[in-house]
Amino acid sequence: MSENPFKPSFGKTPPLLAGRDPLVSQFGEMFRSGEWTPARMSILQGLRGIGKTVLLNAIEDAAHENGWLVLSETAHTGLVERLTATALPRLLREHDPQSQRRDVTAGGIAAVGSLTTQISERHLPSQDLRDQLTLLCELAADLGIGVLLTLDELHAHALPEITPITVALQHLQREDRDIAFVGAGLPDNINGVLQDKGTTFLRRATRIDLDSLTIDESRAALHDPIVVAGRSIDSDALEYAALASRGYPFLVQAIGSAAWSATPRTDSITMADVEQASRRAHRTMGQHVHAPSMKSLSATDRTYLAAMANDAGPSRTNAIAKRMGVSIGYASVYRQRLLDAGLIEAPERGVVRFALPYLRDYLREHSVANTLNPTARSTFPEHEPDLDAGLR
Ligand SMILES: Nc1ncnc2c1ncn2[C@@H]1O[C@H](COP(=O)(O)OP(=O)(O)OP(=O)(O)O)[C@@H](O)[C@H]1O
Ligand SMILES: [Mg+2]
Repeated sequence: MSENPFKPSFGKTPPLLAGRDPLVSQFGEMFRSGEWTPARMSILQGLRGIGKTVLLNAIEDAAHENGWLVLSETAHTGLVERLTATALPRLLREHDPQSQRRDVTAGGIAAVGSLTTQISERHLPSQDLRDQLTLLCELAADLGIGVLLTLDELHAHALPEITPITVALQHLQREDRDIAFVGAGLPDNINGVLQDKGTTFLRRATRIDLDSLTIDESRAALHDPIVVAGRSIDSDALEYAALASRGYPFLVQAIGSAAWSATPRTDSITMADVEQASRRAHRTMGQHVHAPSMKSLSATDRTYLAAMANDAGPSRTNAIAKRMGVSIGYASVYRQRLLDAGLIEAPERGVVRFALPYLRDYLREHSVANTLNPTARSTFPEHEPDLDAGLR
């Protein structure tokens, strides 16, 4: 019996990284040729579970494959300390031919007539970040390669750590060193970081918006791993699963995984397996994507979303203001905040719709009272996927 190939966990590389080949190749080509493209300084942004971390991992793999030196970090407290005390000294030691200097010293009385050697370490922890990065770039240049620094989960909370890194990157780029940077985070958190004057340099980075997968990409992401792992999936079941995922990478893995384990001893995954799997996966999405997304919103942001959830499709902004009992101007402040957070989209003037799949269902199943009171406890009822909605 083969193991379940799907990886419905944050940061876990999926069995098939669907739809991201063009981006990964673009980075791979930059690492291979050493020629700078705008991707040299990039920031990946997208909602929870859209695949930022696993794309960062794929970009790091492409750098490794081309011999590049990679510093892979997360923007949490202690970031600079981790770089200067651990990650940079380790890479410097590994790649500096003079890492250990052997000093020949005269022997003491006990060693008359002999010479002893003393090994001194050139790369001690906690030296200056910029100096260490400069030295690493020099060593990389001698080897004909470059250095990639990645920073996941960019957030304004980590600005005291992000700012010195930004300053170092700015100097290194000005000195024409071979360094590339790729950051990643939620749209709102990226905005929070870039609004600070200490990160002005990063504002010039190329912003890459990660989108949901197309229906073909979703189908492939579900079908190919099943076949590679030695089972098959009925064609109606595959179609249902691809539509029910709405192309959302987290849901693709969650549905694939639950469908696989519904009847793991059979040869083929059926419609019944997939229907059951989709219900489970939507609950998982509620816990791991919708609930945390709601937590970071204000009560009025949530009221705006709850007012949108009254509609079966896109909502008119003036109707939302009316339902909220506020002026259009007041409601538009919250509309903008939710647009900036990437939770809603404005397909046309005066109209908004949900950007996160199944958020409407989640809000409907959690009463408006709950959305106004985030501490209220509630359960997440089962529901069927809305197949008519198709993929965005
Ligand atoms: N292109 C893809 N094809 C198939 N599955 C994917 C793809 N991208 C991501 N996934 C899957 O989606 C899930 C979420 O991915 P990931 O952890 O990278 O999201 P994220 O954007 O970093 O989320 P967060 O904002 O919470 O950190 C994982 O289970 C991962 O395996
Ligand atoms: Mg992530």
